[in-house]
Amino acid sequence: MVKPISRRDPLLQVQHLSVGIRRGKTYLLGVDDIGFQVQAGEIVGILGESGCGKTLTALSILSLLPLGVQVIQGSILFNGLELLCLSERELCGIRGKYLSMVFQEPMNSLNPVLPIGRQIAEPLGLHGSKNKSLIEAEILDIMDKLGLPEPVKLAAAYPHQLSGGMRQRVMLALAMVCKPKLLIADEATTALDLSTQAQILNLLKKINRELGTSILFISHDLWLISRLCDRVLVMYAGRILEEGMVEAVFADPRHEYTKGLIGSIPQQEQKGKPLFSIPGKVPAIEEKPLGCPFAPRCSKANERCTTRFPDPLSLRGEHQVRCIAETAYG
Ligand SMILES: Nc1ncnc2c1ncn2[C@@H]1O[C@H](COP(=O)(O)OP(=O)(O)OP(=O)(O)O)[C@@H](O)[C@H]1O
Ligand SMILES: [Mg+2]
Repeated sequence: MVKPISRRDPLLQVQHLSVGIRRGKTYLLGVDDIGFQVQAGEIVGILGESGCGKTLTALSILSLLPLGVQVIQGSILFNGLELLCLSERELCGIRGKYLSMVFQEPMNSLNPVLPIGRQIAEPLGLHGSKNKSLIEAEILDIMDKLGLPEPVKLAAAYPHQLSGGMRQRVMLALAMVCKPKLLIADEATTALDLSTQAQILNLLKKINRELGTSILFISHDLWLISRLCDRVLVMYAGRILEEGMVEAVFADPRHEYTKGLIGSIPQQEQKGKPLFSIPGKVPAIEEKPLGCPFAPRCSKANERCTTRFPDPLSLRGEHQVRCIAETAYG
């Protein structure tokens, strides 16, 4: 069903995507005219505070938006295929097989009354594998790749018998068993302690390196994004404000929002001094201002910032920023 891609086509291409949340007879925009690409084999991070539209973006790609929330405009091409035009049946043929997702809380996604092995087998069965011994071999192979110990014993265990970190590994095994081209990880390490987070991060790197899987990694954690991703999109109130290679954006952030996020990372030399945090908070969707949504919190904002959301300004490489102050004086 999915066409082979030419080398130059991005694996995922999102254009002019807006997602609306129904309020009475109108829709308020949770995602507002965003566009980005993920190339084959690339790891792209989406960074932003809570409520910025990261999850709605991910759910739009999978066509899993909740009731009352829908794509208002845009295009989502995956392998050259318009996902927004597919029937539910066609989408079922793609989800899990070519396009997979792991979420923050694995306990909500795993079936508590089904042994782990049967759950990992499910996507294989759904996507047409019938041969029992082949399915078993695939399960043991992915469990081994993801460093799940004693795979045979573990396959017979139930989710509640595992630690949080182990459950997240099982979720990854489930998402990866069909060897999808793109994995979307939405706050997949947020609920875990630091050392387990680091282990999952290493697993994601391994998946990317050894299976060539592209990853869209959603997080509000700058450290995780900087450790894992090739490129980063900085999202705020439904908009992408800045994007570029991770090193470029972190070394030379150009949007005041990105500067604020980076300024809030604790530094060794700041020990004992108060941490910087961006004053104010992300506007609720019904209170989103005209123009740049960050303007009310921005120390550099002028009145032009409150009238129009700026076009992207291209900096060196793929680095882009949407900021009027930056366009005028940068
Ligand atoms: N089902 C829903 N019904 C109503 N509003 C929603 C729904 N889902 C999301 N929203 C609103 O849409 C906006 C974007 O939400 P989204 O969940 O995408 O944010 P997020 O960046 O993933 O945040 P977080 O970091 O907390 O996960 C928020 O204002 C949120 O309140
Ligand atoms: Mg979210």
